[in-house]
Amino acid sequence: MASESRSLQISTAPVTMFAHLIVTAVATLLLVWLLAKQEGFAFKSHNKLKIFDLHPLFMIIGFILIGGEAMMAYKTIPATKIAQKTVHLLLNLVALLAGIVGIYAVFKYHHESGIPDLYSLHSWLGIGTICLFGLQWLLGFLSFVFPGAEMSRRASFLPWHRFFGPVFFLMAVCTAEAGLVQRLLLLRIFQGQEALIVNFIGILLILYTVSVGLTVVLPRAH
Ligand code: HEM
Repeated sequence: MASESRSLQISTAPVTMFAHLIVTAVATLLLVWLLAKQEGFAFKSHNKLKIFDLHPLFMIIGFILIGGEAMMAYKTIPATKIAQKTVHLLLNLVALLAGIVGIYAVFKYHHESGIPDLYSLHSWLGIGTICLFGLQWLLGFLSFVFPGAEMSRRASFLPWHRFFGPVFFLMAVCTAEAGLVQRLLLLRIFQGQEALIVNFIGILLILYTVSVGLTVVLPRAH
């Protein structure tokens, strides 16, 4: 009987290519939204909206798109297992650091604008996601990279790491979807070109999640 993944009858290559196309499309739409329709970016400015705009920039391009690339590294990097592992670890670290900078930016925006912190479902999901993602990275580092981890401990932790990686990625995408909706509502944008751009970012993020998930479970092309 064919193995479970072979029974899906396709290999990773076309799905991964689709995922990369989505990365380009989301990054482009996001930059068009934030630069042409919103205020652009700055860490320090009298225009506080510029500080806020760093939040979706770092969370979507840094945390989600790069985090997805990190998950696909074992299929996309045509090199040794150790090289793939290094790319996986480093891209996840970049995603985590970008996530921390993005969250720092929105806290800074809130403080400088006199807005209270952590009042929304989005912000609660966001804090939970970044903490769990950070914990997953740390445990992964200690189990698979840090010298001295026993082989038996590595083997028993691996299935948990494989399960929770996609779970936390999905949590990140759900958080971003809630963030996009909340931003449109706060800006009182209900229709028109800007709403279309933002809604398409939301749809493409779901398609990205599906293609990243498929890339992870499908067999590599030979
Ligand atoms: C995985 C991605 C994301 C995470 C982990 C995240 C996390 C957070 C956190 C922790 C806060 C609370 C800051 C505070 O209370 O001072 C926040 C606020 C906010 N975020 Fe995000 N965010 C993400 C993506 C997005 C995106 C894509 C948008 C779309 C523009 C967005 C819009 C907002 C808005 C409008 C606020 C201020 C209102 C509020 O506190 O709910 N977020 N985010």
